[in-house]
Amino acid sequence: MRGSLADPDLNAKAEALLGKMTLDEKVGQLVQYSSGQPTGPGTGRTDYEDMIAKGEIGALFNITNAHASNAFQRIAVDKSRLHIPILFGLDVIHGFRTEFPVPLALASTWDPALVEKTARVAAREASATGIRWAFSPMVDIARDARWGRMIEGAGEDPFLGSAMAVAYVRGYQGMRLDAPDSIAACAKHYVGYGAAEGGRDYAATEISEPTLRQIYLPPFHSAVKAGTASIMSAFNTLNGIPTSANAFTLKKVLREEWGFQGIVDSDWTSLVELIPHGIANDGATAARRAFLAGVDMDMVSSLYHDHLAHLVQTGQVPEITIDEAVRHVLRVKFALGLFEHPYADESKESAAMLRPEYIQLARDAAERSFVLLKNSAGPGATPLLPLSKSVGKIAVIGPLANDPANMLGSWTGQGRPEDATTLQASLVSRLGKENVLFARGTGISEGSDQEIGEAVATAQKGDLVILALGEHASEMTGEAASRTKLGLPGRQQELLEKIVATGKPVVLVLFSGRPLTLPWAFEHVPAVLAAWFPGVQAGPALVRVLFGESNPTGKLVVSWPRSVGQEPLYYNALNTGRPANKVDLSRPPADTESKFVSRYIDEQSSPQFPFGYGLSYTSFSYSPTQISTKELKASALRTGLRDSKQGSLTVTAPVTNSGQRAGEELVQLYIRLTGTSVAQPVRALKGFQRITLGPGETKNVTFTLGPDAFTIWSDQNQFAIEAAHVTVWVSPDSAQGSPAELEIVP
Ligand code: BGC
Repeated sequence: MRGSLADPDLNAKAEALLGKMTLDEKVGQLVQYSSGQPTGPGTGRTDYEDMIAKGEIGALFNITNAHASNAFQRIAVDKSRLHIPILFGLDVIHGFRTEFPVPLALASTWDPALVEKTARVAAREASATGIRWAFSPMVDIARDARWGRMIEGAGEDPFLGSAMAVAYVRGYQGMRLDAPDSIAACAKHYVGYGAAEGGRDYAATEISEPTLRQIYLPPFHSAVKAGTASIMSAFNTLNGIPTSANAFTLKKVLREEWGFQGIVDSDWTSLVELIPHGIANDGATAARRAFLAGVDMDMVSSLYHDHLAHLVQTGQVPEITIDEAVRHVLRVKFALGLFEHPYADESKESAAMLRPEYIQLARDAAERSFVLLKNSAGPGATPLLPLSKSVGKIAVIGPLANDPANMLGSWTGQGRPEDATTLQASLVSRLGKENVLFARGTGISEGSDQEIGEAVATAQKGDLVILALGEHASEMTGEAASRTKLGLPGRQQELLEKIVATGKPVVLVLFSGRPLTLPWAFEHVPAVLAAWFPGVQAGPALVRVLFGESNPTGKLVVSWPRSVGQEPLYYNALNTGRPANKVDLSRPPADTESKFVSRYIDEQSSPQFPFGYGLSYTSFSYSPTQISTKELKASALRTGLRDSKQGSLTVTAPVTNSGQRAGEELVQLYIRLTGTSVAQPVRALKGFQRITLGPGETKNVTFTLGPDAFTIWSDQNQFAIEAAHVTVWVSPDSAQGSPAELEIVP
C-alpha cells in the first residue's frame, strides 16, 4: 500500500517538521476533542478556534460536513505557526451516509471481500466531508451476548475476526492511503474490552495470557499487519491494569513485538477514567501513566493539554518520548496526504453520497447477512420458505415492520431514516397494497391490549403472517446497552404467542444486535430468519430472500444461547475434566454418571444454534474429511516446509448439494489439538470457503494448513508448535462434521 507508515520518506518529512516544533506545539498534536454530537460526557470546551490557531489541537471529531471541517482546517493551515492540518475523525462504523448492515451482520456474510467493499464506500462518502479517520473496525472478540457492543464486531472467533479486521482496514485505507478518498482505520478497543465481566459494559476483564494471545489479540495483530494507521486503547482494566495505561499491551506487544508505527488513540475520556479505576489520584498522574504506557493521543480528557508540557518540564516525562508520540501522529498525517490536500471539495460533497451502486451493494450485503435459523413445513409438506408467488394476502405485524430508523442499527453515522426502506414498504411495492395487511401489534418496549387485539384480527384476515420483532437498535444495542434478559422486550413475546395461536403460518423476522433467547419461538414458529439490523436496503433485501430470489447464505458468528444463564457461551471453549458430551442433557441428572459432569441441572449445555450455523433453501451433505498425511513433523512445520509432506496438511471433503435448488455453502474447517502443554479449545476455526453448487452437484473442497494453524501459546510463554494429536473436521458448522485424525511428531 502506498503511503504505508513504514515509508522512509514519511519519516524524513515527520523528522524535519518535528525539528521545528516547540514543546507546546508537540503536545498540541497529541490532543483530540469532539466537536458537536457528543458520544459521552465531554469537556464542554468551546475555544477550539483559538486553540487550533495556537497549534494546540491535533485532531477533531464528530464534524460531519465539508463546510464545517474546512472552516476549522483553514485556521490550522493558515493561522497556526507550522500550518499542520487537523485530522478529522468519526465513528464511521458500518457506512457513513449509505448505512450497511451492522458489523455483526456483515461478519455473518463470512465474506471479507464484500465487507471490504462496504468499507471502501464508507471511506468515499466520509472523505467527501473531510473525515479522514474512521474509529473502526471494532475487532473485540465477543463471547457474551449480554454485552451490547457485540453488535459492533465480528463475533466470537479470532480467525474470522482477523479476516474481517483485514477487510475493513483494506477497505478504508484503499490501495493508497494518500488518495483523497482513503481514510485511516482504527482497530479498537485494545484489548479485551469484549470480555467484560458479566457482559456489563466497561467492566473489568481477567484474561490469561494464552487466551489473550490466541483469542483476543489476533484480530488486532491482523489489523496491524494489514497496515492500520491507528489503534484505540480501551476502557476496561485487563488483569488489574487499565488498558489505557497498560505498558504490556501497548508497548511490549504492540510496538516491540508487532512493530506498530501508527497512532495509539485513547478511547473517549479513558485517560481521566484512570482516576475512578484507582491507579491515579489526579489528572497529572493519569496523564503520566497513560502517556508512559504508550497512549499517543488523548481523546477528550484534555489531560495531555493540561499536564504533558509541565510533566516534561519537571522531568517526569522525557521529551524524547513526546517526540516519538508526535512522530506517530505526523507520520499518519503525511501518509494521508493531508498536507497536500487538507480540504474537502464542498461542491462534490452531496454527489458523493448514496450513489446507486452503493445502494446496490447495501442490498447485496444485507441479503448475504441474514441467517436462516429455522425453516420447517408450512401448509403442505414443504418448508414454509421461500414464499410462493401465489401466497395470497400477507399480514405483516410487529413494531419493526415499518420502522426505518431502527433498520440503520446502532452507530448510524450520517444515515437518515428516510434513506431506509422497510419490510412493509417493500412488501407493498412487491405485492400491491391490497395484498398486504399491517398492524404494529405493540411497540418495541410497550404495548396495549387494544393494539395486540387488532394485530390478532389482522392476522386472521391474512393467508400468512410475517412477524417483525426484536430490539431497539440504539437503546438496546451498542455502547452502554448491556442486558440481563435476552428475550423479546416489552409485550412482543405475548404478541408472538397470540399470533401463532391463530393457526396461520408464521414467518418470524428477528431484528437484533445479538442472538435472542427465544426457545418458545424456535419450538412453535415454523420459519425464523435472523435479519440483525440490515441498513438502508432492509426491505428490498428481505423481500428477495423471503421470496427465494436470493437463497440465504449467512451463518452465525456467535453461538446462539437457549437461555441467558449459559452466557458467556462460545464454541471454542476449553474442555473440562468432566465433559458432558456423553450425557443426555435434556433430562435432569438421574445418577452419578450424569450428575458430576460439567452441565446445568436446569438447561442443556449446547447452544440453541452453534457458531457457524445457518440454513439454505437447499441442503448440503458432507462426505468424510480426508487428510493428506497421518503425520506432520513439528520441525518441518516450524521451518515452514510448506511443500514437504510433513510441513503442511491438505484437507479435503466432497460437499454435495442434496436439495432441489442451486445454493451457496460456507464450508468450515476446524481443528483440535490434544497432548499440548496448554489446553486447547475443543474446536478452533482454521479455514472457511464458499462454494456454489447446482442441485445434485458435488465439489471437492480443499484447505491447506500451514504452521499458523498449529501454533499455540505454550507453557513457556511463547508461541510454539508442539507434538500433538490433531483432530480435523470439515463441516457446515462448529458442531457437525466427521473427524479425521493425525499426529504432529517432534
Ligand atoms: C466508544 C468508541 C468511540 C468513541 C468516539 C467511545 O464512547 O467506546 O468506540 O469510537 O466513543 O465516539
